Amino acid sequence: MTRWANFGGWADKGEQDQHNCNPSEKHQPTLERPRHEGNGFVCGALDASLPCVLMANSDSFRLGVLGSGRGSNLAAIADAVSRGDIPAEITAVISDVQDAPFLQHAERLGIPSQFIDPGKYRTKLDDAAEQAYIAALQLARVDLVVLAGFMRILKGEFLRVFEGRVINIHPSLLPSFPGLEAWKQALDYGVKYTGATVHFVDQGIDSGAIIAQETLPVRDEDSPESLLERIHSAEHRILPGAIAAIARGEVELQGRRTVRQNP
Ligand code: GRF
Repeated sequence: MTRWANFGGWADKGEQDQHNCNPSEKHQPTLERPRHEGNGFVCGALDASLPCVLMANSDSFRLGVLGSGRGSNLAAIADAVSRGDIPAEITAVISDVQDAPFLQHAERLGIPSQFIDPGKYRTKLDDAAEQAYIAALQLARVDLVVLAGFMRILKGEFLRVFEGRVINIHPSLLPSFPGLEAWKQALDYGVKYTGATVHFVDQGIDSGAIIAQETLPVRDEDSPESLLERIHSAEHRILPGAIAAIARGEVELQGRRTVRQNP
């Protein structure tokens, strides 16, 4: 099935919105149109001067997953893909940590995976690394970039190239407790409920439009570890669910809000 991408949402052919070129013009693409390529996508417009609609090069929706840690969310995504719950394939798994269990998970599952050196900074990619990440994801022709425990801030060029197509999983009920060790922040603050959030990535820290959340009670006897364990279970439910909804073209971005077409 062909998917049509717009900013922050994907729709099946026929419901698509245009992307790029000239946002004020509309045109109806068909599968028979000659196509020109760019940014790892094929444009459905007649020629490069027309407004274009972006679509994946093959029939399946393609995921690129970035991570730095244990890889439990990657495993949950891969399970959901293999069960057929996510109508997509994982075509790229990339880590900034060479010996991350995240990469070992991918290898065990037979998913194409690679370490790409993040460069000289601790919390972000340097310019050369950013280009290398972009190139690898474009080579894999990903439709959606999933940050599953990727511990670096992505900004500028990366978000421009994959505009509206990068999501993140965060271990709190955003906008509460953005940043590091969110489950500890929640426990220290004394909230009675916390949870997990899937959101689009924008230039801020954990500040993009929210796609899915699950709420969990904080128990009196909770330690950071016990709370995190339950948050992880919630993450493993909402992240695959959100990806599936995006791959089916059910998620639409309306300003800061996301709306589900078939909730
Ligand atoms: C998750 O808790 C996620 O919310 C955060 O990083 C952690 C990754 O865990 N962004 P894993 O590597 O998927 O097990």
